[in-house]
Order: sequence, then C-alpha cells, then structure tokens
Amino acid sequence: MNYNGVDFSTYFKHYPSEDGFFGKYGGAFVSPELKNAMKDISEAYHTICKSAKFISELRRIRKEFQGRPTPISHLERLSNSIGNVQLYVKREDLNHTGAHKLNHCMGEALLAKYMGKKKVIAETGAGQHGVALATAAAYFGLECDIYMGSVDIKKQAPNVARMKILGANVVEVTDGLQTLKEAVDAAFAAYCNEYKDAIYCIGSVLGPHPFPLMVRDFQSVVGIEAREQFLDMTGELPDAVVACVGGGSNAMGMFSGFLNDPVDIYGVEPLGRGPALGDHAASLMYGTEGVMHGFNSIMLKDENGEPAPVYSVASGLDYPSSGPEHAFLHDLGRVKYDVVDDEETVDAFYKLSRLEGIIPAIESSHAVAYGIKLAQKMGRGSVLICLSGRGDKDMDYIIEKYGIR
Ligand SMILES: Cc1ncc(COP(=O)(O)O)c(C=O)c1O
Repeated sequence: MNYNGVDFSTYFKHYPSEDGFFGKYGGAFVSPELKNAMKDISEAYHTICKSAKFISELRRIRKEFQGRPTPISHLERLSNSIGNVQLYVKREDLNHTGAHKLNHCMGEALLAKYMGKKKVIAETGAGQHGVALATAAAYFGLECDIYMGSVDIKKQAPNVARMKILGANVVEVTDGLQTLKEAVDAAFAAYCNEYKDAIYCIGSVLGPHPFPLMVRDFQSVVGIEAREQFLDMTGELPDAVVACVGGGSNAMGMFSGFLNDPVDIYGVEPLGRGPALGDHAASLMYGTEGVMHGFNSIMLKDENGEPAPVYSVASGLDYPSSGPEHAFLHDLGRVKYDVVDDEETVDAFYKLSRLEGIIPAIESSHAVAYGIKLAQKMGRGSVLICLSGRGDKDMDYIIEKYGIR
C-alpha cells in the first residue's frame, strides 16, 4: 500500500520519526525540564520494549489477567436487519475492566515499575481509562491520581466508584467546561510538579512524544489479533474496518493491523448535536492545525485560536483534538474520517443491545452507528467494527436523557 509517497509495508519503521513526528504532526512541545522527563521515558521505553523479559511479562498479563485474546463476534441478526453486508465486532468490551484502555495501562504501569516510579497520574473522561489505570496501579502496587471533570464525575458515577474501590485518588476538576480537556490540563499540571516520582499515563494516542508511539504500540494487540481472527473465521480480510476516534487509541490499535492491507479504514468522530462549533467534538472533520497538551495535531479552535469548547454525548470522545497519527493518516487519505451524531449513536446503542445482546459503550456506539450506515451504502461485503467498550457505565445516563426505546 502506498499513499502519497508513504509506503505502508515499512510504515512502522519510519513513523513516528525519532523525535516523535508523523509528518508535521506530533513532537514534544513542552518545557525544557519536561522535555528531559520525556527523553527519560522514551529511552526507558525503547530499551524495555525490545527486552524479552518485558515482552513475556506483558504477554502473560494479557493472557492471565486481562483475558486476551478478546473474540470477534459475528452480528448475524443486526446484519440480516440491514441486508447482505456482514457486520462483525472485535470485543474489547470483554477485556478486563470493560474497555480497550487496559491494553495500554498495563504497559504504561509496567514501564513505571521498570523506571522505579512510585505513582501514576492520568486524566479520564468516560472513566474507562481511569478505571484501567487504577486497576494497573493496584496490580503493580503503585499510587494512582486520576483527574476528572465535575460534569463527567456526575455522568460516569459507576466508574468513579470503581476507581475509588480500586484505591485511586479521584481529583475533581472544576475549571472550564469540567470535562476531558480540563482534566488533561489538570493532570498535566500535576505531573509537571511530580515528574521525578511519578509517570503520566496518558489515556490515548495523545500528548508529547513518546506517548502517541507507546500507546499505539500497546494498543496494536487489538489489530494484530483481529486480523488473524478475522482471516481464521472467514478466510478473507474484511472489506472495511471502523472505529470511533476520541483521542484515537482504540482506532490506532485496530487500524495498525490493517494499514498495509487492501481494506477501507474509517475513523468515526462525534458530531454531537450538529456541526456548529461547540456542539460537537469532530476535530479532524472541522479543525485546523495547532499545538495543545504538548503535541501538534488538528484541533478545534475558538476565535482566539484557543482550544474550543466541545460537546459529545460520549464523555470519552469529548476532546478538541485527536492524536497526531490520525491527523497524518487523514492528510494522507489512508484513513477516511467521518461523523455520526448523538441521535444516530443512541439508536445504534439500542440496536446492538436488542438485536445482539451486547450493550455497547456510548463511545463505541458511534462506530456501530457508522458501521450500520456503511453497510447500507455498501450493499455487499463485510465490516469489522472495534467495539471499544461495554455500556454499563452509560445505562443510567442514557435512560435518563433518552428514555427506553
Ligand atoms: C469505551 C471507550 N471507547 C473509546 C474511547 C475513546 O478513546 P480513544 O479514542 O482513545 O479510543 C473511550 C474513552 O474514554 C472509551 O471509554
């Protein structure tokens, strides 16, 4: 596969570059002090990611603790309700803690242990990354501070309880819109004061280098497994692969397995209430280039060039930018990015629950909604959707806001 001069057969050797760039996106735009901390993390990661001990420990954890490999399920009733296209889901909802986030958290916490850090710090939106990191911290015996906006604390109460039970300290963030962006701001600020003893475990393929690289690598298990399982199940590759994009970690994990294949790849962003600025969080669709939280990517900006307020029914997609690798793949045209709105998403949430007995996370429901629309357009073939998480955390909110459908 070759797109605009980029050869995908050797893509992972060249991207990101040594200093963390995917074309013009990525990098590490941080203070000189933090730049040194990033350099230490990068060096430690590059040393251990090649060590047999680290690889075998991570493999053991994935199998014995996380319950990997997660299966692929064929959505027979949903497919039949649409027509001839066969829909499949990669079941990250069955990963321990109920979402893909544990894939990178166990890796990041193992790295923290290796570096002799005592504490892990992170932000969370939907609470899935917070729960996953609190789980990893409990497993490895690390302290854990999770920053979360007040709005999300109310919306995702079950996950707040889970983090506390797991022993994490949940720090309420009351600034601005009190959602994911503000939580990242606060977690980053805390890390700047504590970087000697702590490590920042970012929740997606975001932040300064080396986080987008590390999180992609840890999540690539999703795409590697999915490709092999799909071939095993059907004897061929899917015609299309779909994943929702907040920061973009489940999508990068899934897509990385298929970038060099003749497979159409779609990233789905949240259109929320509609295309007006402030009503959605579709940064790749409507944003422009800019630096935020230590990396250069495409982001939604207000009239002063600052990160714009964003909205989505899904707390985990409620972020004004996306990972730099997505911006790169978007510009290259290798991945097509599109949107679904809240209504289509809630509809898909109920469809998957009623027709297949799977209650999806509201984030993942964006990918399901797009998969359904794509199947209607395609008429024949197969679509593999990344079901990034389960919907237990969303049930109360959906019933309260949208009622039972
Ligand atoms: C279940 C689930 N899917 C997707 C996301 C979005 O994150 P990302 O785009 O990094 O996969 C989240 C974030 O919290 C989530 O909880």
